[in-house]
Amino acid sequence: AMPKQVKIVEVGPRDGLQNEVPVTLEDKVNLINSLSKTGLTVIESGSFVSPKWVPQMAGSAEIYGLIDQVDGINYPALTPNLKGYELAKQAGVKEVAIFGAASESFSQKNINCSIAESLQRFEPIMQQAKLDGIKVRGYVSCVLGCPYEGDIDVAKVAEVAKTLYDMGCYEISLGDTIGVGTPIKAQAMLAEVAKLVPIEHLAVHFHDTYGQALANIYACLALGVSVIDSAVAGLGGCPYAKGASGNVATEDVVYMLNGLNIKHGVDLTALAQAGETICKALGKKTNSKVANALLSN
Ligand code: HMG
Ligand code: MG
Repeated sequence: AMPKQVKIVEVGPRDGLQNEVPVTLEDKVNLINSLSKTGLTVIESGSFVSPKWVPQMAGSAEIYGLIDQVDGINYPALTPNLKGYELAKQAGVKEVAIFGAASESFSQKNINCSIAESLQRFEPIMQQAKLDGIKVRGYVSCVLGCPYEGDIDVAKVAEVAKTLYDMGCYEISLGDTIGVGTPIKAQAMLAEVAKLVPIEHLAVHFHDTYGQALANIYACLALGVSVIDSAVAGLGGCPYAKGASGNVATEDVVYMLNGLNIKHGVDLTALAQAGETICKALGKKTNSKVANALLSN
């Protein structure tokens, strides 16, 4: 059954901006601070990865020193290995996310190791985070398809998700990295994972490349999922790949949830304004249909 309330995990400052042309530190800080005033309770704000691999996320350490961290809001950061974890901890990060994949080829291209090797690299992060009292979220990429391998076996998705959950991740986010999924497929995948990981510990993370993200979210809500990842203004895509899209727009998710009478706590007007400001900094149009409609009225 549909949940009565959902948690929105805003990933725009990380997943969005990692795939846009670089913006200034000030623009990033402004974005995070304005998102902090919208009612969101989770704002993924940085990524402690190699700046050679993802130059857009360089400066994540400085961001944590500059933003106004509001009580009750989590500001997690991505950490692919112990080095990233230690840098995040030094920067004052209180929650991190590790990220694996259900596709071998994607794992190699994204983090330069196999799925099994990635899980081994996450072990010391989990151990240290436990000692430090830092919560860890887990991502699984390519849950509905891989850019190199095509279809991905749902059993593999469930296996990786369960491994991350058993390692101590409090929540597992299922990523349709390239936005190829459709609703029935999304439901079949989610149902398979939910056999191994309780659904209240699962999140859905849809990119909107083929325009299916909202439909997929609706389908997953119907199975009871209650955590949704999204990016303000639908930020993201890839500056180097034509046709790539970002995450589903948070404004569009909020508008749909309002219509479904599902509580989320986010102020749509404030959110759309935060999106408008970052789009101006990027020199681009919003990818949110809802923001577009609101701002032209
Ligand atoms: P590697 O080259 O295999 O790593 O990269 P290495 O350990 O051999 O180190 C090579 C160099 O990187 C060394 O520096 C290290 O110090 C440095 P050098 O000696 O050459 O000067 N290094 C680091 N620097 C900063 N922070 C670190 C770090 N680790 C090593 N943490 C590595 C392995 C994982 C580092 C690399 O592949 C990498 O950074 N990948 C990042 C990939 C990435 O960020 N992808 C996007 C995020 S995932 C995503 O978007 C999907 C998601 O949204 C869900 C979905 O949609 O599916 C989450
Ligand atoms: Mg993503």
